[in-house]
Amino acid sequence: MPQTEGRNLAVDTAPVPIEKIASLAKRRGFVYPNSEIYGGVSGIYDFGPLGVELRNNIRRYWWWSMVQTNDNVVGIEGAIITHPRVWEASGHVDNFVDRLVDCKNCKRRYRIDHLPPENLEQNTCPECGGELTEPRNFNLMMETYVGVIEGDKAKTYLRGEACQNIYLDYDNVRSSSRLQIPFGICQIGKAFRNEVTPGNFLFRQREFEQWDLQFFVHPSEMQRWFDYWKHRRFEWYKGILNHGDRLRLRAHAPDELAHYAKQAFDIEYRSILGWQEWEGIHWRQDWDLSRHSQYSGKDLSYTDPATKEKYVPWIVETSGGVDRTFFFLLLDAYEEEPDAAAGKEPRTVLHLHPTLAPIKAAVLPLQKNNAELVTAATALHKRLQRQMVSQYDDSGSIGRRYRRQDEIGTPYCVTVDFQTLEDQTVTVRERDSMDQIRLHVSELPPYLSEHTLQFSAYDGDS
Ligand code: GAP
Repeated sequence: MPQTEGRNLAVDTAPVPIEKIASLAKRRGFVYPNSEIYGGVSGIYDFGPLGVELRNNIRRYWWWSMVQTNDNVVGIEGAIITHPRVWEASGHVDNFVDRLVDCKNCKRRYRIDHLPPENLEQNTCPECGGELTEPRNFNLMMETYVGVIEGDKAKTYLRGEACQNIYLDYDNVRSSSRLQIPFGICQIGKAFRNEVTPGNFLFRQREFEQWDLQFFVHPSEMQRWFDYWKHRRFEWYKGILNHGDRLRLRAHAPDELAHYAKQAFDIEYRSILGWQEWEGIHWRQDWDLSRHSQYSGKDLSYTDPATKEKYVPWIVETSGGVDRTFFFLLLDAYEEEPDAAAGKEPRTVLHLHPTLAPIKAAVLPLQKNNAELVTAATALHKRLQRQMVSQYDDSGSIGRRYRRQDEIGTPYCVTVDFQTLEDQTVTVRERDSMDQIRLHVSELPPYLSEHTLQFSAYDGDS
C-alpha cells in the first residue's frame, strides 16, 4: 500500500454506529471515560495503551508534514494558561458564546444553532413540543485562578483555542529564528471549552487537543496562501482515509463565521453524524496581531527587509483536532467483514493506515508451550521492538490471535512456526488482504519499516 495515499475505497458501506466504536475503544484500550468510577465527567476522556500510541502516531505525522518538511514553518509548545488580557484581546471574553434555550416543560437544553428549523420557527422543544425560553448567552471559556492566597488569586482562563500562544510568541519566534514573511508557526496543544452539549463520544469534548498552523503573509498574498493551505490540508486528510468520498470542503455562510474570521472553509467528514467539521481553514486577516498590539501596547507590525514596507501581517489559519482525527479515523477504519465460512462470526477490522496503526507487528509463536518456538519468537519480537511497536501474543489459536490483531488495526502478523526453526523464515500476514508471504527473518525489519514507518512527502513546497 502506498504510504499516506489512503485506500480511497470506492465501495461505500453503511455508517458505523458510534456505540460500536466507543465499545471497541474501551474494550481494547483505546479510550476510557474519564473518572468512570465516580460516574464520569461529561465530555472528558482518557486514552489507554493503544489510544496513546495512535494519538502519538497521528501527532507525529502531522508534525512531520507541517513542520519538519517545510523550511518556512517552525513549531512551538505554549502554556495552557496565559495572561487574562489575552482573552479580552482575542475577543473570546465577549464573543465566544453559545446561545441557549431551555424547554420550560422537560427542561432539556439546546444550542439555538442546533435546533431543527421548524422548532426554531415555532419556539418548541424537539423532544416534547414544550415552549422554549428566551435565548441566553453562555460563555464557553473555562475559568481558573492563579496564585496561592485566597483573595489574591487572579482569575484567568484555560485556553479556549490553542492558537493564541502562536500570536503571543510570534515576534519572539520571528526574531529568534530569523524568519521572513511568508512563514508559519505550528503547535499541537490542549484547548478547553465549556461545551453546553458535549457528546457523540470524542466528537465534541470539553478538553481536547488542537493542531494549528498560523501562516503569516503580506496582505496582497493572502488569497494565494489561503487557497494553497486549503488544498494542502484537504489532500492531507484524504491521504489517511479509506473512504475519500466522505471528505468535502464547505464554505462558511456569513452568519456562521467566527468573530475573528473574514472567510472560512471547513474540511468535513461524513459519518453517522452527517457532514461534520474536521478542520477549519480561516482567513483571520490582521485581527489577532492588531488586537494584541492594541491591548498589550507592543507593536507587532513587520518591516520588509527589502522594501522597508511596514505592515501588520495577515494570517491564514488551519485548525484541526487530534481527537477529532482520532475519532473520524476510527469511524473510517472500522469494518465488519462477513466471513465466507458458514456459521463464522464476521471479522472486525480496523483498516487504519499502517503508519498510524498503534501496533505495527504482532509476533505469534505457533505454540506457546514449545520452548524453541517461544525462544525464536521472543528474540524476533525483541529485535523488532528496537525499530517499531511490536506485540508478542501467544494466547489462543493462531486464528483467534489474527482476529484480535485485526480488531486493533495491526497491519502485520508474523508467525514463528516449525519451518522457522529449520530455515529462519516466518509467515507474514497482511491485515487487509489477509495475504501471506514467507520472509527470512533478516528481511523482516526492513520490510516492516518500509510498509509501516515511512511517511510520504507532500509533493509541493510552501
Ligand atoms: N483557532 C480556531 C479554532 O479553534 P474551531 O473551528 O473552533 O477553530 C478547530 O476549532 C478544530 O478544533 C475543529 O475543527 C475540531 O477539529 C477541533 N474542536 C473544536 N471544538 C472541539 C471540541 N469541543 N471537541 C473536540 N474537538 C474540537
